[in-house]
Amino acid sequence: MTHFESRTSDHEIEPIFLQRWSPRAFTGESMPQAELNRIFEAARWAPSSYNSQPWRFLYARRDTPAWPLFLGLLVEGNRSWAQHAAVLMVAVSKKTMRPMGREEDVPSHSHSFDAGAAWANLALQATSMGWHAHGMVGFDMKRAAEELRVPDDYRVEAAIAIGRKGHKATLPEALQAREVPNGREKVGNFAFEGGFTV
Ligand SMILES: Cc1cc2nc3c(=O)[nH]c(=O)nc-3n(C[C@H](O)[C@H](O)[C@H](O)COP(=O)(O)O)c2cc1C
Repeated sequence: MTHFESRTSDHEIEPIFLQRWSPRAFTGESMPQAELNRIFEAARWAPSSYNSQPWRFLYARRDTPAWPLFLGLLVEGNRSWAQHAAVLMVAVSKKTMRPMGREEDVPSHSHSFDAGAAWANLALQATSMGWHAHGMVGFDMKRAAEELRVPDDYRVEAAIAIGRKGHKATLPEALQAREVPNGREKVGNFAFEGGFTV
């Protein structure tokens, strides 16, 4: 068993996995580019099929010219709290890859899986540095593809807000009740020895 604040694992793990969670109350603190580079560096070392590294992170730091564009992509419910983040991102993945020795691209089976691994690395690195990352599907993906100039052979995966955690009292009342780390299914409900168990 491992504990971190309100979370307890059933089996012993590194505390960072419990420490990472997705708050909505952010302080509005900005992030220096050098710190963001360290967060991307962790994403860089994620594993991927054939080492194809299909992840791309399009981003804006607060108080920079691209910030309003990224903030404007979010649905209102997410914009209400993500406006106080330090960085907003849209994660995309390349749907095709070039196997070694081949002259043309072929479809990638695992581009989303691989980009997910990179996002997980990124979120854990952010946590280790005292920031929190919060994934979002609540944004206009079609407009994101257009306005961020995402080429056709890339899939828009998710938006991400990274910020310094603030006090939950700064949130609208409806969100305050949800501002607490949540729980998980038991391992036995998703890890099946020998084949799928319904
Ligand atoms: C791909 C992805 C999309 C998500 N979309 C949203 C969202 O649009 N709005 C939101 O408030 N939270 C969103 N979340 C946060 C999840 O609800 C949260 O990660 C989940 O409840 C587990 O909680 P934890 O991250 O605090 O451990 C998203 C998370 C992921 C990974």
